[in-house]
Amino acid sequence: MRLRSQTRSLAQTSVLAMVVASFVTGTAASAADLSIVSGAVGRDIEELRKHLDMFEAETGHTVSIVTMPASTTDQFGQYRLWLSAENPDIDVYRVDVIWAPQLANHFVDLTEAAADVVGDHFPAIIESQTVDGRLVALPMFTDAPALYYRTDLLEKHGATPPATWVELTETAQAIMDAERADGNDGIFGFVWQGAAYEGLTCNALEWIKSNGGGQIVEPDGEISVNNENAAEMLDLAATWVGTISPPGVLGYREEEARGVWQLGNAVFMRNWPYAYALSNSDDSAVQGLFGVVPLPTGPSGEQNAATLGGWNLAVSEYSQDKEAAIEMVKFLASAEIQKDRAIETTRLPTIVSLYEDADVLGAQPVIGEWLPIFQEAVPRPSAPTKANYNQVSQEFWTAAHNTLSGNGSGAENLATLERNLMRIRRSGW
Ligand code: GLC
Repeated sequence: MRLRSQTRSLAQTSVLAMVVASFVTGTAASAADLSIVSGAVGRDIEELRKHLDMFEAETGHTVSIVTMPASTTDQFGQYRLWLSAENPDIDVYRVDVIWAPQLANHFVDLTEAAADVVGDHFPAIIESQTVDGRLVALPMFTDAPALYYRTDLLEKHGATPPATWVELTETAQAIMDAERADGNDGIFGFVWQGAAYEGLTCNALEWIKSNGGGQIVEPDGEISVNNENAAEMLDLAATWVGTISPPGVLGYREEEARGVWQLGNAVFMRNWPYAYALSNSDDSAVQGLFGVVPLPTGPSGEQNAATLGGWNLAVSEYSQDKEAAIEMVKFLASAEIQKDRAIETTRLPTIVSLYEDADVLGAQPVIGEWLPIFQEAVPRPSAPTKANYNQVSQEFWTAAHNTLSGNGSGAENLATLERNLMRIRRSGW
């Protein structure tokens, strides 16, 4: 009895809220039922739900979340199927920064709808989501990885954060050996993303680029990856597997690496900014015991490299309610929501002014430190290889994974890779 009246009053309240909201926003009688599909790591879905609840309260629309596996590679495969089938059930897609050229035709051009806000975002990010003059997604957050290190362990063993991959190899090994001799049996030196998927493309691009080995396919379309500097770094990374890194690293994605690190079982970790807030949470064994620095430089390189990542929001051409879907995208990409996302989950904003926002910098000073890392980050060759990017990346991560698994040397696998990329390119990308 009591339960029923409570339910009724809740329902009545939300109807009232919708009526009030529709007066406020002028969208009377047009409350929509929307859906957004999103992959996730860490607390992404929890944060998204919180923001969608705010959106619902403000607009009277309702939104359901379709959750996807964490791997961007798995998401891409599914999204491509849904979009080619012109699926009307998904209104908004959370899309990886590399997908715009491949999926552009399935997304609504947001140029006009977002004309009032595009100028607030970093121009390079807007450009990355613009295909043939059409803005196909609005940025939600940007991404660039760093090297996480344990301040307590480095101090205890008299070490400093490594500037080169060779130093990282040596420091990780020395601390791991000393800790194990001291009874810290579970400790490893370095965790990263070694599974055969897009994340390995990001890691291996960083090794190669930081060793003067180019960026797989150069901005002008040249296939540059078959070179000695690239091979040298793949061979060095292969020595990590089963020594400073657990043998299982060949199956690790972001969350597996974070799991080992957050239990206190790694000296170093390569990961994206989302892992920062989580590593500092109350249930983390490394809370307050770590710092981040830019990733190291290769033995034959001059400049370190971080791969540019990031996630954006696109409206499906097959949505039955594009107006409301665009409203949702603008809300989730807005300064207010990006600010909360940065403070709560250390996701890097794409809105320039937020890097000078006192609340953001007060709550998460690391966001300010991350700015130069993301501004210098290297893009994957999704622009020059256009619709072929996914295949190019797959060939690249396969060559890297083979080398890491002891299945051929770096030089051998890169020679094969070059042949395969030439076949994919044929007469042009
Ligand atoms: C992060 C990046 C994304 C990248 C992915 C690889 O989510 O933001 O761009 O593709 O990692 O695992």
